Amino acid sequence: MNNMTDLKGRRLLSVSDLSRAEVFAFLEKAKQLRMSAKQGNDLLSGRILGLLFEMASTRTRASFEAAMMQLGGEVIYMRPDELQLGRGEPIKDTARVLTEYLDALVLRTNKHETSEKFADYCDIPVINGLSDLEHPTQILCDLYTIQEAKNQLEGLNLAWIGDGNNVCNSWLLGACMMGMNISVATPKGYEPDRDILKKAMEIADESGSEIDLMKEPEEAVRNADILYTDVWISMGQEEEAERRMGAFQGYQINRDLLKNAKRDAIVMHCLPAHRGMEITEDILEGRRSIVWKQAENKLHGAKAILALVTN
Ligand code: CP
Ligand code: NVA
Repeated sequence: MNNMTDLKGRRLLSVSDLSRAEVFAFLEKAKQLRMSAKQGNDLLSGRILGLLFEMASTRTRASFEAAMMQLGGEVIYMRPDELQLGRGEPIKDTARVLTEYLDALVLRTNKHETSEKFADYCDIPVINGLSDLEHPTQILCDLYTIQEAKNQLEGLNLAWIGDGNNVCNSWLLGACMMGMNISVATPKGYEPDRDILKKAMEIADESGSEIDLMKEPEEAVRNADILYTDVWISMGQEEEAERRMGAFQGYQINRDLLKNAKRDAIVMHCLPAHRGMEITEDILEGRRSIVWKQAENKLHGAKAILALVTN
């Protein structure tokens, strides 16, 4: 973990690229930019953000684009198949060229190593907008949403229900960094990444957070302040759909499961949601759900990230 709070020029590929103090700096910046959102702002005037996405995105793409434009900057959206990259130009060449045109680059890559390679060859901040391993910007924005909703982070209990995927991996790191406790209920064979878990445990040793991995969703949500879930089939896992649909039966946030949590527990989902699979319609649209606020806050969070890494 890094202990400085100056994020200028830094990469953000993993939640663990940040220190706890830097997460607090992000939360403060997001709050500040949220309050002044309607006034217009030229904080990033003259700057250009590149977005290079190998996979679909609604929220991450649109929030970073809108954030950049609302702060006075411009954006260039790129798909690999429209670049020479798609015809075999090496990442190291693409990265060095893009460095000359852009002030920051948001990537969405199938493989985390692709983002790492870009970051190694780019002299501008490279931000992971989701890879198979992590989704750090989502967790930063979610921390902001939770702080708004609960007025605290430390000591809260978050229950993760479902797949131990990229979002779950970043949650393990983010929760432990902020002194939250995290219980993860997954079917056997769908646990979070081992190396991330090891890193999260090291962070937890310092922060006092507790990590519990289990099979039973009911046990994970006992005493939970926050219930969190994500799709059963992530992008790139479409061929495993049938097996996954079988494995995840019972790993649904629904009315019965919610009864086991604290009375004021909130429900979160990074979206896109599959109603009737990982979450029911009534819970997603119900009064305990803060998913729409969560989605809104991706805009304020994207502004804060861009401001911190480029200014
Ligand atoms: N939550 C999230 O990252 O959504 P998108 O895939 O639409 O960007
Ligand atoms: N785990 C999901 C998150 C989508 C935002 C995926 O990788 O597709």
